[in-house]
Amino acid sequence: MSSAATKPRPTTEDDITAEVLRRFDATADPRLKQIMQSLVTHVHAFLKDVQLTEAEWWKGIDFLTKTGQMCDDRRQEFILLSDTLGISMVTDLISNRKPAGATESTVFGPFHREGAPPKKYGDSIIGADRKGTITYMAGRVLDLNGNPIAGAELDVWQAAADGLYDVQDSSLQEMNMRGKFTTGADGRYLVKTTRPVAYQIPSDGPVGKMLGATNRHPWRPAHVHFVVSAPGYQTVTTHVFDSVDKYLDGDAVFGVKNSLIAEFPLHTTQDEAAQKYGAEPPFCTCDFDFVLAPAKK
Ligand code: BEZ
Ligand code: FE
Repeated sequence: MSSAATKPRPTTEDDITAEVLRRFDATADPRLKQIMQSLVTHVHAFLKDVQLTEAEWWKGIDFLTKTGQMCDDRRQEFILLSDTLGISMVTDLISNRKPAGATESTVFGPFHREGAPPKKYGDSIIGADRKGTITYMAGRVLDLNGNPIAGAELDVWQAAADGLYDVQDSSLQEMNMRGKFTTGADGRYLVKTTRPVAYQIPSDGPVGKMLGATNRHPWRPAHVHFVVSAPGYQTVTTHVFDSVDKYLDGDAVFGVKNSLIAEFPLHTTQDEAAQKYGAEPPFCTCDFDFVLAPAKK
């Protein structure tokens, strides 16, 4: 027998794990080495824990392949997978620890688009009429001491009143329900929009199949998305949620934080808010201040 055939080689599951880990030992970047070795350790532990069969792993590969094939510039199935497995929110919590008083962040989601149109104070983001309740979202962008931040940018987007983002609606060519607002010297913003509605995340792909097979629902509570940024401050990616939504406790992507829940009162008469905004009842208002933490040194 040749000496090659008598050399000790990895034979058990644990031997393979140890050998794979060893192959990453020479990785020059210490963070990459840590991530790869930890990933292998945890994935191998998972395989051994559930005693994954080959047939099940082929199903897993098929699922991941279909997830990739579903992605294009209008659909990001991998973000959806990350969101529905809670990966997005765990990384959000790790990456975005804020000082007390600063606005908390939440999931970015797959529906942000670069290049939203610039808007002036009080402009509307409603491009295509979807019959929602007109809503005035107003507030200030402040620093941790309560001082207004001038020149802060608010990149706003939301689903239309039919629960669809513009990228999901093939009748829309232009950007709809999106805009970039900039605060003046008083730090104030005012956005005219429609009251957000609860909607289902896209369920016609592999992620939807996974939710169905595991008896999970695809609903997100009503919310408006904001990315708020200003020079010298940490950017916050967040939502404002409607306090009366029935899915606040069961968000399909785990994004709800108590500090992000706000009231959207309905106004049915020519009240003070109607005068202030020149609004025709019925309409809703929502007051929400954003507080930015100083940039990290
Ligand atoms: C969203 O809020 O737009 C969203 C977030 C996660 C998954 C799907 C949609
Ligand atoms: Fe959303």
